[in-house]
Amino acid sequence: MSHCLVTGAAGFIGSHLAEALLADGHTVVGLDCFTDYYPRPVKERNLAGLRAAPGFTFVEADLRTDDLAPSFDGVDVVFHQAAMAGLLKSWTHFDAYMTCNIQATQRLLEAARAASVRHVVHASTSSVYGRDVSGDEDQPMCPASPYGLTKLAAEHLVWNYRDTFGVPVTVLRYFSIYGPRQRPDMGIYLLIDAVLHATPMTVFGDGEQTRGNTYVSDVVQANRCALAHGPTGAAFNIGGGSLVSWNETIALVERIVGKPLNRVPGPTRPGEQRHALADTTRARQVLNWQPQADIETGLRAQVEWQRGR
Ligand SMILES: NC(=O)c1ccc[n+]([C@@H]2O[C@H](COP(=O)([O-])OP(=O)(O)OC[C@H]3O[C@@H](n4cnc5c(N)ncnc54)[C@H](O)[C@@H]3O)[C@@H](O)[C@H]2O)c1
Repeated sequence: MSHCLVTGAAGFIGSHLAEALLADGHTVVGLDCFTDYYPRPVKERNLAGLRAAPGFTFVEADLRTDDLAPSFDGVDVVFHQAAMAGLLKSWTHFDAYMTCNIQATQRLLEAARAASVRHVVHASTSSVYGRDVSGDEDQPMCPASPYGLTKLAAEHLVWNYRDTFGVPVTVLRYFSIYGPRQRPDMGIYLLIDAVLHATPMTVFGDGEQTRGNTYVSDVVQANRCALAHGPTGAAFNIGGGSLVSWNETIALVERIVGKPLNRVPGPTRPGEQRHALADTTRARQVLNWQPQADIETGLRAQVEWQRGR
């Protein structure tokens, strides 16, 4: 069993991951500073079960400024989920993206090096590739947003620490994650909310942008597979198996909820990916990982969670 540090543990993915690691018998330190990207009470709800769980310790700390050494005491494996996520705000809040995604990652890697951890598993994103994403891990990296650019810089820091100091690492590039606790700024959350409450929602562009949406338990499983495998020194695409357009996603949610969406047409958003489908061959071959959830089951679970809020 390992002693794990999960950064961003109060967030969407980090909270699910910390719960899964505890369920597997590991001990977990969860670290988060509650950035104001979305409200603290939402993150406190994500944390509620964890705070009471045996084997879990929570540290409220900012990776950019606080002393990280105490949080690394006895840590074997780090799962670095903390970041400023989402691309829209990265055009207007660049400082926060630069510091939370680049500076925080450098400080985390420095602390991991000092503590001689066994493995750093770093959460990256399909946004490192750019506008059209449908290839394997070796396709060109041309981020189309400041968010993608800061996450690409963070990945490069991971490679720097691997190559210069031998820090044992794995990078997981997530593709559009959804499921219970999804961030309230994300498209599927906003869509379900609009359909449930019959409020208008802007559909940007023609609605034919496509995603290989990834259910949150599949992302958690990818992290477990990385832990089981051990350091790879490589990057892996982690994405759902089937390509679904935004118009098809809307139709599915309308059917699950039993109400139509009140659509308002809007322009294409700057920096938005047109098509994103992960080629996950490498993750299947090396990590023995493949996505399991189908979109309808996943959307049903998220609708149920949002109904209960
Ligand atoms: N959700 C997705 O679809 C998606 C897709 C691709 C990649 N990712 C990546 O997955 C990771 C988790 O994303 P999420 O959707 O769970 O986001 P989230 O915003 O729900 O969680 C991130 C957490 O990190 C914390 N945090 C940010 N900066 C910090 C700092 N300086 N110090 C301490 N804590 C800090 C925030 O308070 C937040 O609770 C991120 O690295 C993100 O880039 C997410």
